[in-house]
Amino acid sequence: MYVLGIETSCDETAASIVKDGSTVLSSVVSSSLDFHKKYGGIVPEIAFRKQEETIAAVVDCAVKESGVKLKQLGLISVTNTPGLLGALLVGISFAKSLSLSLNLDILGVNHLYGHIYAAFLNMKLINKPFIALIVSGGHTSIFYIKDFAHIEILGTTVDDACGEAFDKVAKILDLGYPGGPVIEKTALAGDSKKIKFGCSNTNHPLNFSFSGIKTAVLYYVQKNSVQIKKDKSKKLVPDICASFQEACVEALLKKSFAACSLKKADTLVIGGGVAANSYLRNKFFQEAESKKIKVIFPEKKYCMDNAAMIAGLGYELNKKGLRSDLSLNADLIRGA
Ligand code: KG4
Ligand code: ZN
Repeated sequence: MYVLGIETSCDETAASIVKDGSTVLSSVVSSSLDFHKKYGGIVPEIAFRKQEETIAAVVDCAVKESGVKLKQLGLISVTNTPGLLGALLVGISFAKSLSLSLNLDILGVNHLYGHIYAAFLNMKLINKPFIALIVSGGHTSIFYIKDFAHIEILGTTVDDACGEAFDKVAKILDLGYPGGPVIEKTALAGDSKKIKFGCSNTNHPLNFSFSGIKTAVLYYVQKNSVQIKKDKSKKLVPDICASFQEACVEALLKKSFAACSLKKADTLVIGGGVAANSYLRNKFFQEAESKKIKVIFPEKKYCMDNAAMIAGLGYELNKKGLRSDLSLNADLIRGA
């Protein structure tokens, strides 16, 4: 079955055609990121206006690139939670009008579960049940997946998301937005053992907290501002980035593998924008070897927001009989 996926939960406008839940025939992503950069974060009003401008062209491009005719489609799968309300509504409204005009089934799906599904795109089958860690700009959560219709949340962040902490630390260091890629790059020249940063403990062992470490970096930078300005070796900022990144990865590692032992799961899937980080990927692979756990990452391009993961997830859930109707709306309560 050919599924059209539509994703507009934040600053990306994305469309994709996926065959039978795994073969990606096209994946088009248009981002309004450049329009947000000067504000140091996503401005919801700009995000959804840009989506309104581009959605028709993005969907058209995805369909043409795939070589699939509209009448061959079996389903439209669209993100309807979580995300920015205006942004979600652009994708949902477009999907509903297509569904009505083509007489096609429609299904609203969860963006976070889409990030988990990303590991199934263009890949061999993954044995269920498994543990999934989703690390993105808006969420950091651990899930237990029996199948995609039965997902149990085991832990989540009690304050900032991990990607959000990367973005805020980059802002403190004046490195630009988004913070993840630039911190990863800057950290390559740094020593991760130089400064002792750590993520705060949480009452629940599988929850996360990234707000404290961001404040710790802020205090460190304020206390050492003169040295940082005069730093001829150009080592201090890389050391801060490497030490911060190390502490975040440590917390993610510890809790994900604890979830695997709790549920006796031998497979761990990691998704979301932060999962594109090569340092994190290597550390997870190293730890997995010693713990005899299979770690699976999506291809890097499918870690970031995209619509192929939404099309794939839609196919999987539709197979189990799930479908929406034209009353489909953004669901800001259900989003984990
Ligand atoms: O999943 P995503 O594309 O959007 C959300 O659903 O949030 O994730 C975006 C987040 C941003 O916070 C960005 O800084 C972070 O992922 N990110 C990274 C890297 N690439 C993107 N964080 C760490 N290292 C990276 N290489
Ligand atoms: Zn995302």
